[in-house]
Amino acid sequence: MKIAIGNDHAAVELKQEIMSYLQEKGYEMINVGTDTHESFNYPVSGFKVAKMVAGGEADCGILICGTGVGISLAANKVKGIRCCVCSEPYTAKLSKQHNNTNILAFGARVVGPDLAKMIVDEWLNAEFLGGRHQTRVDMIMEIEATQDLKEK
Ligand code: RB5
Repeated sequence: MKIAIGNDHAAVELKQEIMSYLQEKGYEMINVGTDTHESFNYPVSGFKVAKMVAGGEADCGILICGTGVGISLAANKVKGIRCCVCSEPYTAKLSKQHNNTNILAFGARVVGPDLAKMIVDEWLNAEFLGGRHQTRVDMIMEIEATQDLKEK
């Protein structure tokens, strides 16, 4: 499985730790940066990872900034992306099972490395449950495509 990973200056160390952790587990990681502590505008890496996931270059993505918020907002502007900020494993798991998220975001100023690894593991190991959840995800994507919604 190919995972695109991106971050800003607030998350360089955590990004590197998560990358190594997942590489050791056999995942192929595509690092879009940044890898320095110079101030870096998070929409750049949010957009790059989102384009890779939406275009099929990566199977899914991980985004890390200070809080996870800005970088997830940027990613969610790309068509086809469902990215959510998760600060604990339960939401991460359910975001895949119910919402079929294709990018996981979290904050390096919010979660430590061990909790971040638990969040990532739960998310990667969970599967979308489909059924009634598919109907709702389809409705989200209908809003994105049409800026309208047929209520069900
Ligand atoms: C950078 O200072 C910070 O604003 C960024 O990492 C992130 O938390 C934005 O949502």
